Amino acid sequence: MNAHCVQLGGEQLAPHCCPAMILSPFLVAAVVVFASAVTGCPVLCTCRSQVVDCSGLRLFSVPPDLPLDTRNLSLAHNRIATIPPGYLTCYSELRVLDLRNNSLVELPTGLFLASKRLSHLDLSYNNLTHVVADMFQEAYNLVHIDLSHNPWLRKVHPQAFRGLVQLRDLDLSYGGLSFLSLEVLEGLTGLVTLQIGGNPWVCGCTMEPLLKWLRNRIQRCMSDTELAECREPPEVEGAPLFSLTEESFKACHLTLTLDDYLFIAFVGFVVSIASVATNFLLGITANCCHRWSKASEDEEM
Ligand SMILES: *[C@@H]1O[C@H](CO)[C@@H](O)[C@H](O)[C@H]1NC(C)=O
Ligand SMILES: *[C@@H]1O[C@H](CO)[C@@H](O)[C@H](O)[C@H]1NC(C)=O
Ligand SMILES: *[C@@H]1O[C@H](CO)[C@@H](O)[C@H](O)[C@H]1NC(C)=O
Repeated sequence: MNAHCVQLGGEQLAPHCCPAMILSPFLVAAVVVFASAVTGCPVLCTCRSQVVDCSGLRLFSVPPDLPLDTRNLSLAHNRIATIPPGYLTCYSELRVLDLRNNSLVELPTGLFLASKRLSHLDLSYNNLTHVVADMFQEAYNLVHIDLSHNPWLRKVHPQAFRGLVQLRDLDLSYGGLSFLSLEVLEGLTGLVTLQIGGNPWVCGCTMEPLLKWLRNRIQRCMSDTELAECREPPEVEGAPLFSLTEESFKACHLTLTLDDYLFIAFVGFVVSIASVATNFLLGITANCCHRWSKASEDEEM
């Protein structure tokens, strides 16, 4: 644990009021303020038995100084746009973090470095644009991640969820994803449910490895198959992702068609004509030069 946190969280900080202190109201006030800064509950939030609820308070920033033993923290239904990088460093007991329905555009790197016990993370209904590599590194006990309803979420890094072997549920539905690298999912050996519906998937050749993988795991890995649709290319617009068969991707592996051969033959023909013409011109030029120099030699003589 971080030394800074140990210092703040020591037993000696639960202040026992002795009579001498009660005689001095200022001293008592000072102790109360000190105590509430360390173990107290943020203004307006409710705190009981390691559950801190700061939801629906129209907060624009995260509340400071939570109880150090906080297990469940809800900041849902606020207007929080950013989280300071070290915000969670002191709350190593944190199991559940609910950030649903805020205005988060990105998360600072290293936010979860001390969140070794975190198991449930809800980031749905935000404005996240991308998930970077190793975003959840060190939070390797994560079981459930909800990133749904982030309409601007266009990119999930291939290593975004690296190392999360405990992850059972991943919700990426209702985002702006057109592509997802197979590498994102391959390492998630414990995955049981995966939601990917409501995204504008581009069902081109790049989608084939992912679909193949999903199809093989579909029994173990329950997915919202009927909700996931292709947005592009036009031929398959609106088609359910999982209606695409091996046949649909035949073109991706196809060797050359007749048109390709004709094109190649045509290009070859044009190139050879061009080279013949060039040789011809060079020949004429050389011949002319030769004659001309011969003629001038004759003149000189
Ligand atoms: C903490 O959150 C989890 C998951 O949302 C919930 O199941 C659990 O009951 C909560 N704990 C308390 C004490 O509210
Ligand atoms: C988000 O929070 C606002 C209050 O801040 C609430 O009115 C709205 O219904 C919430 N939306 C969702 C999807 O939970
Ligand atoms: C989300 O981002 C978009 C564009 O970046 C912006 O127009 C919108 O107001 C944002 N919404 C919230 C709730 O912050």
